[in-house]
Amino acid sequence: MSTNTDKVSVWFKVAPESDFPNNGGVNVKYKDTQIAVFNNKRKGEWYATQNLCPHKKEMILSRGIIGDASGVPKVACPMHKKTFSLLTGENLNGDEETLKVYPVKVEDGFVYIGFSE
Ligand code: FES
Repeated sequence: MSTNTDKVSVWFKVAPESDFPNNGGVNVKYKDTQIAVFNNKRKGEWYATQNLCPHKKEMILSRGIIGDASGVPKVACPMHKKTFSLLTGENLNGDEETLKVYPVKVEDGFVYIGFSE
């Protein structure tokens, strides 16, 4: 589970856990929003962010490389390697653009993303 779940009003059932690649991301569409969902198998953690990279407005973050920056799980955009915290969405390069992050949970083998509506 990642990020705060206090404000979640809808848990969107995405897909079985087995549909997600280990240590990689998948692009999921919820209404008009594209969400990048990441399965960090090494740590046993899941994360979700907007799929839109704010740098050049590319829908591409689900294809980013996940890793760790001093203990903070991060994703690096495949286009120009800007990196973002998967916990807070903070831009770890010190730029202003941040990502929206969403809570993720896995229950009975299914992955859910939390939204507050
Ligand atoms: S488009 Fe993502 S870093 Fe440039």
